[in-house]
Amino acid sequence: MDDRIEELRAKREAAAKGGGDDRIAKQHDKGKMTARERIDYFLDDGTFHEFDQFRTHRNHTFGMEEKQIATDGVVTGYGEVNGRTVFVFAHDFTVFGGSLGEVFAEKICKVMDKAMEVGAPVVGLNDSAGARIQEGVGSLGGFGEIFQRNTDASGVIPQISGIMGPCAGGAVYSPAITDFVFMVKDTSHMFITGPDVVETVTGEQVSFDELGGAVTHASTSGAAHFAVDSEEEALDQIALLLSYLPQNNVEDPPRIDPWDDPDRRTDELADIVPKAPKKPYDATNVIDEVVDEGSFFEVHESYAKNIVVGFGRLDGHSVGIVANQPRVNAGTLDIEASEKGARFVRFCDAFNIPIVTFEDVPGFMPGTDQEHGGIIRHGAKLLYAYSEATVPLLTVITRKAYGGAYCVMASKHIGGDVNYAWPTAEIAVMGPKGAVNILYRKELSEADDPEARRQELIDEYREEFANPYTAADRGFIDDVIEPGETRQRLISDLDMLLSKREEKPSKKHGNIPI
Ligand code: COA
Repeated sequence: MDDRIEELRAKREAAAKGGGDDRIAKQHDKGKMTARERIDYFLDDGTFHEFDQFRTHRNHTFGMEEKQIATDGVVTGYGEVNGRTVFVFAHDFTVFGGSLGEVFAEKICKVMDKAMEVGAPVVGLNDSAGARIQEGVGSLGGFGEIFQRNTDASGVIPQISGIMGPCAGGAVYSPAITDFVFMVKDTSHMFITGPDVVETVTGEQVSFDELGGAVTHASTSGAAHFAVDSEEEALDQIALLLSYLPQNNVEDPPRIDPWDDPDRRTDELADIVPKAPKKPYDATNVIDEVVDEGSFFEVHESYAKNIVVGFGRLDGHSVGIVANQPRVNAGTLDIEASEKGARFVRFCDAFNIPIVTFEDVPGFMPGTDQEHGGIIRHGAKLLYAYSEATVPLLTVITRKAYGGAYCVMASKHIGGDVNYAWPTAEIAVMGPKGAVNILYRKELSEADDPEARRQELIDEYREEFANPYTAADRGFIDDVIEPGETRQRLISDLDMLLSKREEKPSKKHGNIPI
């Protein structure tokens, strides 16, 4: 018996070495952790249970039968993060470059299937040279099996990707389907084709980083939600993100013991939002003031900065937050902002996370770039996402709510449960200047002093329409509140809404304009 136990221990030790000491040293030289080091860092101490440590590939081409390495290049299993179950897979670059063959894919599928059965999140740590060339179409089939599971799991369990090395070709589409993508600056890359192929096909010369580095994807393409400085930071942030999320779509998000007074007044808000309608301010200051102190966790911070999205807590409850950002392009909604907002709203709705919307929006962005780029169908995504949402929707209009954008931003008409406006709100078809120029074009062209008359008309318009009381009179907003009451009111309303149940007509799925 002792011999057998020794044999088992020796096998485990060999498997834990992956591709061997030299390749581990190379991995460290590149500033990267190994797959096992990542898992050890990420999971609560001693909670990792590994599956399939002894699996090897079945390939007999290119002399591969001589090269059998236990785990076959991916470490899989489950453990706990802050005491909650999480399934993980981590590509092991030291084994065949972390390239994906049939067995490798089967291991990932096993973890994903189990996560779906028990209803727990999956975190995938990617560091792979892509499809294993020696296994040909078997590898491609493996990717297909994973993509199908990513899609089936979408909206059922949270799926989070950490990109910690290369992620190229078809391999990018698994992280792309997952809910949140973290990339590590300098050491991770994602692209469909690398710089060499780009140059061959288009003549363009571009570096790895410019083409598909963390900063590029977090700020330009939007393919990554977070670009962080180190692997440790990525893993810490993934753990923090998980703390806001339920384990699956039939659970509510966890409430943590509140540490901030639910009755705290938020009088500073009156100073944060300037009275002058065109003066910019930072929407994140409004959010920080309202949510439990220090709880705002911004998502997609560097992409489409004219809209802010992220998670926060109100009296310990997890909420999703969407805010127009007046500091960037006056907070107008453009193609990218609409997509960013829509995807976030749909995530929150899928996982029972109430949404708080802070609205200060002068409208959709005008221009041929936007029109020709499809602002009509992209803008419709945000409208669609809010309209189909059945989670509690709480909206605060802080200043402008103009035109179609008024309807889109969780208005009463598309399902807003509680809609507030501050006294500074201007709710109208368009801003005073634009409206006056259209309505009084003839009169202004004939006026003795057109500028003085225009100002008079603007003041009249503002008095008549650009205020919250016309909407309040119709019941389109439930109340005009003082900025200082915002936190208290939202917390009371959230408490009232937590038991909300709303049924939509049953259908296979909607046809969101993608
Ligand atoms: N299939 C099988 N093995 C692969 C592989 C693949 N797609 N890509 C790399 N490997 C192996 C290498 O042969 C090497 O094996 P070894 O350790 O036994 O020598 C090991 O993985 C590491 O690769 P290496 O090229 O030395 O690492 P690198 O850090 O210098 O480069 C890449 C990493 C990913 C940039 C480079 O390996 C590459 O371009 N690979 C091909 C990527 C690709 O086109 N994949 C298919 C797209 S889906």
